[in-house]
Amino acid sequence: MKRWSAPGKLMLLGEHAVVYGYPCLVTAVNQRISVAIEEQQSATTIQTTAGDTRFVDAALEIGCSVFGGKDKHFIVKINQAFSSQFGFGSSSAVTVATLAALADCLGKPVSQQALFETAFRVVETVQGVASGFDVAAAVYGRTIWYGQRGKDITRVPFTANTVAIVIGYTGVKADTATLVRQVGRLYNENKRQIELLFRKINALVIEAKKAIEAGDWSAFGQLCTENHTVLQELGVSTDRLDTLVKGALEAGAYGAKLSGAGGGDCMIALSPLDRVDAVKQAIEQCGGQIVDVEIDAEGVTQV
Ligand code: PMV
Repeated sequence: MKRWSAPGKLMLLGEHAVVYGYPCLVTAVNQRISVAIEEQQSATTIQTTAGDTRFVDAALEIGCSVFGGKDKHFIVKINQAFSSQFGFGSSSAVTVATLAALADCLGKPVSQQALFETAFRVVETVQGVASGFDVAAAVYGRTIWYGQRGKDITRVPFTANTVAIVIGYTGVKADTATLVRQVGRLYNENKRQIELLFRKINALVIEAKKAIEAGDWSAFGQLCTENHTVLQELGVSTDRLDTLVKGALEAGAYGAKLSGAGGGDCMIALSPLDRVDAVKQAIEQCGGQIVDVEIDAEGVTQV
């Protein structure tokens, strides 16, 4: 069998604005999904512990038409090492791993860019509106600047050994599509005002890239917190997210923000190494659950 694995992701800055073509910063996490594929004579079968096979079905169909495997049948085995509960991008990871394993199985070498474009097509087909940042994280891995809906993807060196990213889960599962639609309605009702918020986010993302490159964690943290304030203005934060962010800041984090669509899921806090325990404790005391993952993980790879 041909087996490939792809990582999940964590949004650092720029969510929502990225749907409208603005840039974001995203890092891949060491929670991975692996997909093994082999050709078989009888009808295609998918073995998975996750109930939802829409992304795998679409990846097989679109992948076969792009890589030239029409009328072929496969056995597909999926090993999901992380829960889809935390919003780490299991859909994009499974899509990218499936396409990479399929191309390998069909003996078709595929470039990272072609893999990204095909996977983005799959995700858009299943999900409707999407920015593709999570697909890029699954393909390229590490920490990336993602701009112009994937036309501008650049690696940002994140040497995180002098700082920690602490992740707090709110306990509430958010629905990204609902929040993206909610922002879409606001945008249609008040384009000028929302465009202004997106431009603020854009400026923060540009500064944040420079801060990461300079290893200026105090500046990067502050930009994260400012991004959280703009997301509050966009109406996508919740009391619970705000409480966890406030708790982390009071415990000495450089900065903190919600990560992803909002409405629940996770928040992140950038913490000095000597404050990590205090920040974790504060998040827990505020009702959050610490999720231990490493950032800057490797992109899609053969296993
Ligand atoms: O909730 P997540 O982690 O899927 O992130 C959503 C980020 C959005 O910008 C709101 C949507 C998108 O596709 O970029």
